[in-house]
Amino acid sequence: QKLEMQLEAIEKGGYEHFMLKEIFEQPRSISDCMRGRLDANRGHLVLGGLREYINKIVNADRILIVACGTSWHAGTVAEYIFEEFTRIPVEVEYASEFRYRNPIIKEGDVVIAISQSGETADTLAAIELAKSKGAIIFGVCNVVGSSIARASHAGSYTHAGPEIGVASTKAFTAQVTVLTMVALLVAHRKGSITEARYHELLTDLEQIPVKVEKALALNKQIEYIADIFKDARNFLYLGRGYNFPVALEGALKLKEISYIHAEGYPAAEMKHGPIALIDEEMPVVFIATHDSSYEKIVSNIQEVKARKGKVIAVVTEGDTLIPKMADFIIEVPATNEAIMPLISVIPLQLLSYHIAVMRGCNVDQPRNLAKSVTVE
Ligand code: G6P
Repeated sequence: QKLEMQLEAIEKGGYEHFMLKEIFEQPRSISDCMRGRLDANRGHLVLGGLREYINKIVNADRILIVACGTSWHAGTVAEYIFEEFTRIPVEVEYASEFRYRNPIIKEGDVVIAISQSGETADTLAAIELAKSKGAIIFGVCNVVGSSIARASHAGSYTHAGPEIGVASTKAFTAQVTVLTMVALLVAHRKGSITEARYHELLTDLEQIPVKVEKALALNKQIEYIADIFKDARNFLYLGRGYNFPVALEGALKLKEISYIHAEGYPAAEMKHGPIALIDEEMPVVFIATHDSSYEKIVSNIQEVKARKGKVIAVVTEGDTLIPKMADFIIEVPATNEAIMPLISVIPLQLLSYHIAVMRGCNVDQPRNLAKSVTVE
């Protein structure tokens, strides 16, 4: 037993938990995901697994994305990216809802299945159903040779390395990275993106690992914020545009490992319900980086402050306005808004991690949850 414990300590590489190790691995796992695929200097972007099917995606009338949990959140980020750059309509579906409602699938529809484990029963069944109706399945999996990878016609692995912590972290950022590369390839081939924009995004994507490293350097500051809010009973996470799925993911991370009730919402929907919950007891995490919806989210922050809510805001470095309103700010490096989720999610992963540790929770193996859900 002692040997086992020593082995586990070695696997954790000096970190107290697998989750923390995996959070800190992200600069490397994102690089691994892009290795050999992207070289911005040469304007080079290739995904081996896409070659045979790229024209099918380029010519698709629509794209369906099926996934569960955190992978569904990565799919929601991908929806925004695909629609903006490829102009192909995208629908993101919970695999479990999709498969049980006699979905409309036409011959030649493209279905992207996202799954870290590649074994999630609902996602697997959803793609089998879509396949039987003539859809082309593109798998985005982390585990090589997994069932979903094998059941797909084509796919790209995320290459994030083994993820042990039940709460997904590095798999999420790798999924978003792969899906961004797919969207850019399709958009470039289709001519729905300008050369200049394409090259700019390749360069921005290549710089993500360095910026994630900078976001990770905020760890101590986030631990400090975690200590202040660790006894909260509820949390609200709000974001707009590309940061809306990040709000969902931040709330999910907190629920999963700290057992604090948390909800993610599009910031503008706050006035249609959640605003009724806001008082001095309610921490509200705003993901409010500098992008096209910045001014709108600033007014959402003011609405929360007017009701005495406690605001923790993730902002872009150098922001001078939000620090005047928020109770706590977390400053992350700037990037193109389309790939900001890769950076803005990092402080939320750390926040949930520290809160869970402070509450004495079993971070790597939260109660009632499994790493891979092979039941329907
Ligand atoms: C479980 C895990 C989550 C994961 C989800 C989907 O609920 O606890 O972390 O996001 O399954 O898993 P998949 O392997 O398909 O990405």
